[in-house]
Amino acid sequence: NSKNYILAIESSCDDTSAAVLCNTKVLSNVVATQEIHKQYGGVVPELASRAHQQNIVPVVHQALAKANIDKKQLSAIAFTRGPGLMGSLLVGTSFAKSLALGLDIPLIEVNHMEAHILAHFIEDETRTPPPFPFLAMTISGGHTQIVKVSDHFTMEVLGETLDDAVGEAFDKSAKLMGLPYPGGPLVDKHARQGNALAYDFPKPKVDGLNFSFSGLKTSILYFLQRETKNNPDFVSQNIDDICASVQYTILEILMEKLKIAVEQTGITHVAIGGGVAANSGIRGRLKEAEETLGWTTYIPKFEYCTDNAAMIGIVGYLKFEAGDFTDQSVAAKARYAI
Ligand code: KG4
Ligand code: ZN
Repeated sequence: NSKNYILAIESSCDDTSAAVLCNTKVLSNVVATQEIHKQYGGVVPELASRAHQQNIVPVVHQALAKANIDKKQLSAIAFTRGPGLMGSLLVGTSFAKSLALGLDIPLIEVNHMEAHILAHFIEDETRTPPPFPFLAMTISGGHTQIVKVSDHFTMEVLGETLDDAVGEAFDKSAKLMGLPYPGGPLVDKHARQGNALAYDFPKPKVDGLNFSFSGLKTSILYFLQRETKNNPDFVSQNIDDICASVQYTILEILMEKLKIAVEQTGITHVAIGGGVAANSGIRGRLKEAEETLGWTTYIPKFEYCTDNAAMIGIVGYLKFEAGDFTDQSVAAKARYAI
């Protein structure tokens, strides 16, 4: 069993990340989160690419140093080709190509959405990876998708969002309540102390396994406008109950679609990933589904849920083993389906 060292680079959105893996084991996973976007209440693409440009070399240096690996020991360079912000992807793509060329080692392109799913296969003594076939739901600030995973490289998207991602639904709702960006974790925190049935928000009617979250945001906006007209302090007085009710509605939407996916496919192994997987409510709902519906559920370590290069590295390793390399003529792809 040979030791293959993979350097992985992720730059699809607002996190610059580099990781070193030895086969399926993560030796280092460095993430530079760009704080600059906070003041704008969302990611500003132009600023993201500039920050990647500044961060990428120090982040790669740190990843190699933490792994205690010299770049001459590397077996291949894996990078996120897409989907994501074009200006952000270009930085990681160009850097990965140049380094692979300079070191004269293989280059391996990775689809970011596949990586969120294959993060479950990162070596972790506290978890077992899901068996094939399984259902994967990726929920984050940029994505909302249910995927049937038949093996490492055979995936079928069963449904996805038609508008906002679920993390965006959390963040935009939070913004309407005056909470700072990103508001998802704060909604979660308030929700834990609130009554989930205090207020009723309509669920969208979307056929099949697709999602829609933009209507929820609008109904929250109208609801808050109506209530604050009578009582300007409505939000601050009821923040826990509002957050609990908003979160409840979002989780109902997610669980409803997951249940349909399980019924349609007969697959009861359900894996989730993405930043919203940190939500305490969704974790509770999955536990409940294990007990009442007989599902087996899987969540990677939190650092492998949010955008990170370790998940790019695990795909890199699996493709390396399969001899699936990428030509130097490769270009980044902002829209890149699984
Ligand atoms: O995966 P991620 O770090 O970045 C993207 O690829 O988007 O996900 C970030 C998203 C944000 O929308 C954030 O508000 C949300 O995940 N999030 C949460 C929680 N923690 C992070 N949403 C709800 N509850 C949480 N505990
Ligand atoms: Zn992501």
